[in-house]
This record gives sequence, structure tokens and C-alpha cells, in this order.
Amino acid sequence: LSNGSVEKEKTLAMIKPDGLSGNYTDEIKKVILESGFSILRERVVRLDEDGAKTFYAEHSSRSFFSSLIKYMTSGPVLAMVLEKENAITDWRALIGPTDAKKAKISHPHSIRAMCGLDSEKNCVHGSDSPESAQREMSFFFQEMSSG
Ligand code: PPS
Repeated sequence: LSNGSVEKEKTLAMIKPDGLSGNYTDEIKKVILESGFSILRERVVRLDEDGAKTFYAEHSSRSFFSSLIKYMTSGPVLAMVLEKENAITDWRALIGPTDAKKAKISHPHSIRAMCGLDSEKNCVHGSDSPESAQREMSFFFQEMSSG
């Protein structure tokens, strides 16, 4: 931008049921803030089956879909809108690989290494593209629907 400030980006972060029930919320928020993100919005939600299926619609043909839906409706989640320069890519990097078991080896300082168990109970979610970020922020925060 002409005034020398940097364009910020927003992404959707979610602490999954195992993260909330394992009391990792404060630790995760500390990492978020120390990594330079602002938390613009947050909301605890208990997803019902329809909601979880809508949120994960792109994975509906995967073999793990029904298990994923069962897990994601097993307890409340914490949805957050994070903002910073490069928020989408940087949040995905901070959470680490999908499989928390692998994360513990290849990315030991990642959030999934810290609090995840496997590919299903992997503690946190992050949008994977600007399109996903917009859709997922609108899903949890209706006031953000217009972009
Ligand atoms: S994959 O295999 O690379 O396509 O996986 P990925 O796209 O990273 O995963 C998409 C979301 O599905 C979840 N997932 C699973 N859930 C249950 N069981 C198994 N085996 C499984 N594998 C992947 C994974 O946690 C991703 O969830 P989000 O919330 O998008 O991170």
C-alpha cells in the first residue's frame, strides 16, 4: 500500500473437539498471538450433523467422511477469525501436517504435534485457500458473508 503498511489477510481457524476437551485452548491462543495473528472473532459452536456435512462437503466422497462427521459433532469446537499478513499460508504452516503422528516427527513445534493424535483427532483446522477462507468464515460468522 502507498503508506507502506502491509495488506492483511483473514483466515478461519478452528479448535476441534479433542483440542477443546483436552484444554489446549489457552496454549493454542498463546501460540496464535505470539505468531503475530490478531483474533478478530471467536465463537464456541456445537456442530450438528447437517452443519458438519456442509462444512466438510468437499470431502463427502472420502472413505473417512462419516467418521470425520461423527468426530466433529462429538463436542463443541472453537471457531476463530485470524488476521495478519499471509494469514492463510502462515496458519496452515503453524498447525503442521494433517496427520498429527507424522507432525510429531517432521514438525515437532507445530500445533498438531503439540495436541493432535492422528489424521482425525488433529486438534485444529485451517482454511487452505482464499476461497475456502471466505466460505468458512461466512459459515461460522454470518456477518462476514459479504466479504
Ligand atoms: S488428505 O488425505 O490429504 O486429503 O487429507 P486432508 O485433505 O488434509 O484432510 C481433509 C480433512 O479430513 C480430515 N481427515 C480425516 N478424518 C478422519 N479420518 C481420516 N483418516 C482422515 N484423514 C483426513 C483431516 O483432518 C482434514 O480436516 P481439516 O479440518 O480440513 O484439517
